[in-house]
Amino acid sequence: NGTAGKAGKSRNILERMDEQGKNCVIFYGSQTGTAEDYASRLAKEGSSRFGLKTMTADLEEYDYENLDQFPEDKVAFFVLATYGEGEPTDNAVEFYEFIGGEDVSFSEKAGEEKPLGSLKYVAFGLGNNTYEHYNSMVRNVSKYLDKLGGTRIGEAGEGDDGAGTMEEDFLAWKEPMWAALASAMELEEREAVYEPVFEITEKPDLNAEDDTVYLGEPNKNHLEGQSKGPYNAHNPYIAPIHSSKELFNDKTRNCLHMEIDISGSNLSYTTGDHIAVWPTNSGKEVDRFINIINLTEKRHNVIAVKGLDATAKVPFPSPTTYDAVVRYQLEIGAGLSRQFVSQLAQFAPNDTIKAELTKAGTDADYFRENVAKKNYNIAQFLEFMSGGEKWEKIPFSIFIEALHKLQPRYYSISSSSLVQKNKISITAVVGSLETPGAPNVVKGVTTNYLLALKQKQAGDPHPDPNGLDYAITGPRNKYDGIHVPVHVRHSNFKLPSDPSRPVVMVGPGTGVAPFRGFVAERAQQAENGEKVGKTILFFGCRKQHEDFLYEDEWKQHKDVLGDNFELVTAFSREGADKVYVQHRLKEYGEMVNKLLEQKAYFYVCGDASNMAREVNEVLCSLISEQRGVPKQKAEEIVKAMRASNQYQEDVWS
Ligand code: 2AM
Repeated sequence: NGTAGKAGKSRNILERMDEQGKNCVIFYGSQTGTAEDYASRLAKEGSSRFGLKTMTADLEEYDYENLDQFPEDKVAFFVLATYGEGEPTDNAVEFYEFIGGEDVSFSEKAGEEKPLGSLKYVAFGLGNNTYEHYNSMVRNVSKYLDKLGGTRIGEAGEGDDGAGTMEEDFLAWKEPMWAALASAMELEEREAVYEPVFEITEKPDLNAEDDTVYLGEPNKNHLEGQSKGPYNAHNPYIAPIHSSKELFNDKTRNCLHMEIDISGSNLSYTTGDHIAVWPTNSGKEVDRFINIINLTEKRHNVIAVKGLDATAKVPFPSPTTYDAVVRYQLEIGAGLSRQFVSQLAQFAPNDTIKAELTKAGTDADYFRENVAKKNYNIAQFLEFMSGGEKWEKIPFSIFIEALHKLQPRYYSISSSSLVQKNKISITAVVGSLETPGAPNVVKGVTTNYLLALKQKQAGDPHPDPNGLDYAITGPRNKYDGIHVPVHVRHSNFKLPSDPSRPVVMVGPGTGVAPFRGFVAERAQQAENGEKVGKTILFFGCRKQHEDFLYEDEWKQHKDVLGDNFELVTAFSREGADKVYVQHRLKEYGEMVNKLLEQKAYFYVCGDASNMAREVNEVLCSLISEQRGVPKQKAEEIVKAMRASNQYQEDVWS
């Protein structure tokens, strides 16, 4: 309807495409930025390989009533992530409700059976098969569009984050899709040449110390030294770290407990929510990256970054410096995509390396064996390929376009808001991923950053035990090593509002985090004189004397809750056989079933791909056994528990 959006831009997509001379719009429904990244990649590829005039579009920023006037010689892509339990991402809610609505009201062809007869569309979904409603967004949207008369070009692609095959799924889907689109729109493929989306200009008149230059500050308020709320996914609160400690008695691994002070910030949480931590890349990896692309001397030069196209959004503030972009904005620690490797070939220092990259970029098996399996990050890969020779020809813009933006990481809050309203605790194992045969150990970016902060906070003269050299004295010393940028994300993982209802919790390893909050909350409720129902926690770890989290605290809660609290442990590396939480759950089948019949809430937190699935299976079989019903009936009971929120999960892969 042409009304201006937030930024004063038209909300009319057809008008916008005409204005910009575009014939291909790539809509995205994105929560954490992955779908948005895929949309940008499709936009670039469409333009460089097929000469399409592409633009990406946030679904939230447009109206859809005039999709019935979408011209036949143009195409719309929908890149849609499915969020949580089959829900649309926040920015796609309106679109989804509109297109799937009972009577979709288009502006022109209202009442017609096939109002989208002229719409050509392409669809790709991002999902996770460990969730029940796998890729339901792309499936449903395709169904709705087809019903309204739209013509889909190629298959509706489905990427699976649960199986860890998102990238390969995407690559496998897009080739036949491009072929189908080329034939439908009579496009000619040409040899891909790199066409930058962003322009980088050095600003010799500016100096990194100037107070207009962003050195990692997320936005203008921070730059001006007056961090202001509301704090959210675009604006972190630089929170003081109240205290931190080590939870493991195991010299080889670390598990951090960190208390973050949110008093005075207006941030609030309730037990079971998540806290987002905004990480910084390690100095060691920043140096490696900057060195291999030959920017060491220029690293603190001030640069302006600009989109060469009105639809290209620069994903961070400018002016800034190369160093700040690499340290605070780009995900330099992640693995590489095959598409990116093939794109890099044209900038190889010599023809041998170029041929090698071209092969890796086009041959999936070769790529898996020689790149993916080695766990290289981008800089390590470049070093390995060239034997350390600098890659001088690579334009810096390509990294801004191809690497993901460094994202906040979410942790299940391990404190209770009833017990400590103004302090949030995190429980996190410091991550490193060692793959047999791979030369490289991948260090978890955020947990290692938190570890460095912990050491610094403790006044440790060697704050960097792993030599990762985090810049914990960050931009203009505001991130001074005793503060950490955070925001809170509210979740539906919640205790029953009536505390007398029983609860059964399953949380091995750091999956116990939210349950530390839950049990503390119930103990507090009991102390306040409320009637608290049976509270059972299944916890698993390797060995009692090694990684048993919060052993003393459970004892204190037991003193308060008495027989109403039971901790059931599974130590997996003490005996000859592995004992896991689900084995213990089975032993307690009779009691668990009885509690469920009394409407107990059932919670699972931790590893999604194996543990949570196996717990679900055990629960089905124990219900079947205890109630004498067939397995299939038990599965339906468990499904119904999930649907009514009696069964809640907080899981990650
Ligand atoms: P393991 O490492 O000895 O195999 C916390 O990480 C605990 O969860 C550890 O005791 C770990 O055992 C255990 N664990 C590993 N895989 C699991 C699974 N599929 N189900 C339940 N627990 C598991």
